[in-house]
Amino acid sequence: MAEFIQRRQFLARLWGAGTGLIAVAAAWTSWDLLQPLRTTGFGGLVRAIRPEAVPETGIVEVAAARSYLTQVDGETVALSEKCTHLGCRVPYCESSGRFECPCHGSVFSRSGEYVAGPAPRGMDRYPTSIGADDGLLYIDTGSREEGPAPGSAPVDDATGPSCAAEGQG
Ligand code: FES
Repeated sequence: MAEFIQRRQFLARLWGAGTGLIAVAAAWTSWDLLQPLRTTGFGGLVRAIRPEAVPETGIVEVAAARSYLTQVDGETVALSEKCTHLGCRVPYCESSGRFECPCHGSVFSRSGEYVAGPAPRGMDRYPTSIGADDGLLYIDTGSREEGPAPGSAPVDDATGPSCAAEGQG
């Protein structure tokens, strides 16, 4: 009889432990589902590319973040593609190696510094980070930093003719 009670107690404890494990798993799943997504699109965190894919002397456009990635002194910088004058999208000109705004002619270096035109400052920047899980570059489009004031940083020399001068746009 004593053996029967022990077996019964053992089975009851086993049942209790199993139920507890199921409750913990359910709570964990619910908590995980309620967490905000890591990437949210423009206005939040945008997943970009592998950090080593950002060229040393060129740019990479990340359309989802409405920005360009480039390297400045070995650091990756995300530049907002919105002109700091009146907000036009500023394309990159391959021949000059500069950003040239088609609206009123503002020009920015590859690093985003002000070069010429009516823009009040250099191109605005977004903070970047490296994802701990995937090693990819993330652009935080939710916290824009104002671009540098004109003359606050040395300007890269143009690498060739301007697109505006060549009528390429
Ligand atoms: S909007 Fe770019 S120069 Fe005016």
